[in-house]
Amino acid sequence: MSAIKRYAPTLVVLHWLLAIAIFAAFVMGAFVLDDMKNDVPEKLQLLKLHVVGGISILVLTIIRLIVRVKSAKPDPVVTDNPKMDKVGTSVQHLLYLLTFLAVFSGMALALKADLMNILFKNVGALPESFEGIAVHGVHGAMAAALILFTLVHIAGALKHQFVLKNDILSRMKLGKD
Ligand code: HEM
Ligand code: HEM
Repeated sequence: MSAIKRYAPTLVVLHWLLAIAIFAAFVMGAFVLDDMKNDVPEKLQLLKLHVVGGISILVLTIIRLIVRVKSAKPDPVVTDNPKMDKVGTSVQHLLYLLTFLAVFSGMALALKADLMNILFKNVGALPESFEGIAVHGVHGAMAAALILFTLVHIAGALKHQFVLKNDILSRMKLGKD
């Protein structure tokens, strides 16, 4: 039994920073970019923000995984339902995987549309639409799956906190011990 009660401060900060960044990337992609025609002048700036934000999510997630391996963690949460405990852990692992899949499919889309040259070197122009590029649909699907499983993760965390009353949220907050 480890006496550690919470995740290391770096992991706590990265958890909440990434939660905000991933939600922001999703809202921007699904509710701003996807509805905006590619000839709208502001689209270039917004795409730049989405791409830089998405790549930052990748870098921070890699740092998070390295810190996770190197730092001491609290013991896993145990309830009287071992099957659901396993589901909870699997969903957390799936969130890491879906984060990578969302980012990599976004990068594949950017490469296919030659976005790096268009956005960062002012060379070339956006395609008429991204809809014709097959990986656009894959990127949308991965991002949606990531958000869907995040909602499952949040529901699980809230159940632990308010129904099982095991104060799970204190494991993901900054504190002395
Ligand atoms: C996009 C949003 C989010 C993502 C991608 C995410 C991802 C994760 C991951 C991967 C872990 C496992 C940590 C590890 O062992 O490395 C975790 C833990 C945790 N998350 Fe989230 N999270 C998100 C949002 C939230 C929100 C909004 C809440 C609060 C309602 C929350 C509460 C927790 C708690 C309490 C833990 C610790 C669980 C435990 O110790 O077993 N998360 N999260
Ligand atoms: C976790 C990170 C990311 C999330 C959650 C996310 C989310 C989204 C969503 C929801 C869409 C709209 C897709 C649709 O509705 O069909 C979108 C579009 C897009 N994303 Fe991402 N994205 C992420 C990372 C990236 C990265 C790293 C890149 C490029 C390097 C990227 C490039 C794009 C592009 C080019 C579009 C098309 C915009 C349009 O439809 O006009 N995304 N993204």
